[in-house]
Order: sequence, then structure tokens, then C-alpha cells
Amino acid sequence: MILDVALGEKSYDIVIEKDSLKKAGKFIHPFLRGNKVVLITDRNVDKYYGNLVLHSLVNEGIDAVKMVIEPGESSKSIDKAMEIYKFLLDNGVGRKDLLVALGGGVIGDLVGYCAATYLRGIDFFQIPTSLLAQIDSSIGGKVAIDLPYGKNLVGAFYQPKGVLIDETTLTTLEEKFFIDGMAEAIKYGAIFSEEFFSYLEIEDFSLASIKNGKSMEKVIYECCNFKRQVVEEDEFENGRRALLNFGHTAGHGIEKVEGFVGHSHGEAVGIGMCLIAKAGESLGVTKIGTYERLKKLVAKTGLPVQFPVKIKGEVVKAMGYDKKAQGGGIKLIMLSEIGKSFIMEEKKENLKNLVDRGI
Ligand SMILES: NC(=O)c1ccc[n+]([C@@H]2O[C@H](COP(=O)([O-])OP(=O)(O)OC[C@H]3O[C@@H](n4cnc5c(N)ncnc54)[C@H](O)[C@@H]3O)[C@@H](O)[C@H]2O)c1
Ligand SMILES: [Zn+2]
Repeated sequence: MILDVALGEKSYDIVIEKDSLKKAGKFIHPFLRGNKVVLITDRNVDKYYGNLVLHSLVNEGIDAVKMVIEPGESSKSIDKAMEIYKFLLDNGVGRKDLLVALGGGVIGDLVGYCAATYLRGIDFFQIPTSLLAQIDSSIGGKVAIDLPYGKNLVGAFYQPKGVLIDETTLTTLEEKFFIDGMAEAIKYGAIFSEEFFSYLEIEDFSLASIKNGKSMEKVIYECCNFKRQVVEEDEFENGRRALLNFGHTAGHGIEKVEGFVGHSHGEAVGIGMCLIAKAGESLGVTKIGTYERLKKLVAKTGLPVQFPVKIKGEVVKAMGYDKKAQGGGIKLIMLSEIGKSFIMEEKKENLKNLVDRGI
């Protein structure tokens, strides 16, 4: 399956194809303006797929080298970017050469950031291997690294030349990362499509079922398609793209207060989505019953639904400092019902009341 992200000169294809990793070289070759490719991955992903992709590049006659970095969010750093720049310089990588990001969202964001900045920008290609990366982070061109002061504080909107998704990579993912990715799939259904939401309700998308051969193709395709449409309409997040933040303002608040060592991102977003749906019902802007459906699906996926009340005050405060807050107001993404969402401006002083209604 192919999806074309139409962004004028920056347009690119998302190819979703089972077992396509071993043919990665064939997909990437047409985009090469030079002859050098630097494949960057992390140690976990390298163990399973590094050499498979490297060999497929080499078999195409491409001068390819591989760089393997430590896994984990701490690699989205200035120091790691510096190591990559050094590696590129040492290997004589020039303006026409290309970087390949093989891995989860950390690798995609970090390699994309380096591609956007090295020599004022060189081409890059995404091969996402985690569920979150396949349905979210590899599409849309947001690339970034973290600073000691906060996450994703330095970055760019920089589109890849293409995205290649092979769902078979999901079978080697740790379960907690699979469940984390599912939170984003639920989010797409909640904000954009009742039909897709029901599909997730009916089917069993657990890592065990995927390992038993259940296909994730429809989930990946639908999610990429939702994101594609939003990115085409609003590449630089001036409007509609903000809908993708559903559950994220509260979710980020929880992650931040817990110092990013408590709930995972997907868990925090699951709680955040439930909170907003319940608060919406209490405020009369969300159809009654929405919260129950959402909570049930979030729980079925293996994600928590209970807001950590002990840190409520701090979370409310953190929500007010959200990156997307402007002046005295904050933009919250609300559901009118499952599959339909809208942006609601809320005064910061009302956040406590909103959270109280949601827990
Ligand atoms: N750019 C965007 O639009 C965007 C959107 C959402 C999230 N993000 C970013 O994405 C990052 C999170 O992404 P993530 O959840 O993929 O984290 P990650 O990249 O850390 O991957 C999760 C873990 O799974 C491992 N892994 C990845 N694929 C694997 C595979 N197929 N088999 C075995 N192990 C595998 C990784 O080594 C890592 O340990 C965050 O930094 C977040 O800020 C970016
Ligand atoms: Zn998210």
C-alpha cells in the first residue's frame, strides 16, 4: 500500500509493505543524488535489522555505512547529534548524500534533526520500526532533539524523502512499547473516525496476536492516512494539526511532573484522553457515553485509565506551562463524540476545574 503525502516539492510516499525491509535498498536507490548512504540505528534495532538493511543497500551498489547508537530518549541530545555530525564528516558525507533513520521515534527525530541541519540540510529517509514511529513520528516532518530544560525544544519541520514501513518489525518490539503505540492509534480513532475506533474495539490488537500472524496493515494504513491528511492541510501546525494533541496536554503534564520516569508517554496519553472525555461530558460539550467507550478501549489495550490524583495540583500547573499555551489561554482538544473533535480555548485559571471534572 502506498500513501502519497502531497506537500508540493516536498511530497513523498509512505510505502507500507510486509517484509519490505530486505528490499530497502531498492526503495531508497531512486532518491539518491549522491552515492553515499549513512544508515543510523540503535543497538536494539541493529540486533535484528541493521545488517539486513545495510546489505540491501550494498547489494544495490550503494556506498553505505552504518552507525549504531545507544537506545533510549537520552540519545535525543546535542551530544549525540555532535557524534553523528562527526561521523558524517569522517565519512566524507556531502550535500547530495542521504541519511537513513532505522528505528523508533528517537532515531527518527534525532537522525531527522541531523539531516535538517548538517551542511544546512541533506536528504533523509525513514524506516520506522516501532508502532509509534510507524503510525505517528515518522510522518509529518517534525524532527527534534531534547535539551536539559525540556523535550523537543530544538528542531525543525523537515520532511523525509520517503517512509518505508514493514510491519513484521513489530514482532520483536517489547510489549510496553507496542501498547504505547496503540495509545496513538486510539487517539486517531477518537478524534477523526468512529468507524476506525469501532474497528479497534472489535479486533484484538495485542502483541501476542501480532506474533501469531494478525496483520496490523489496516491500523498502520488508516493512522498514516489520518496523519497525512492533517499534515497536508496544516504542515506547520497553525491550526488543525493541533487536534493530534488530544490527550497530550494532560498527558505531558503527568510525564513532566513524574520526571519522565513514571507513566510512559502512551500511558499518560491514555489517562489524558479519558480525563478530557469525562471533563467534556461534565461540561456538556461531549456526548454522554463517549468517556465510557474510550475508557473501555484504553483499558482493553493494557493502558491505565486512572488519573494519578496525588500529583493533581502539579499536573494542573504543568498543563498551564504547556508548549502550546499562549498568553492566558490554553488550547485543549475536546471530543464532541467519538470520531469528532474540536479545539477549545480555555483560560489557565479554569484548568483546575476542568481536571476536577475529568477525574
Ligand atoms: N516527530 C514526531 O512527530 C513525533 C511524534 C511522536 C513522538 N515522537 C518522539 O518519538 C519518541 C518515542 O518513540 P518510540 O516510542 O518509538 O521510542 P524509541 O525510539 O525509544 O523506541 C522504543 C524502544 O523500542 C526499541 N525498538 C524500536 N523498534 C524495535 C523493533 N522493531 N524491535 C525491537 N526493538 C525495537 C528501541 O530500541 C527502544 O528501546 C520520543 O522521543 C518522542 O518525542 C516524535
Ligand atoms: Zn503522542
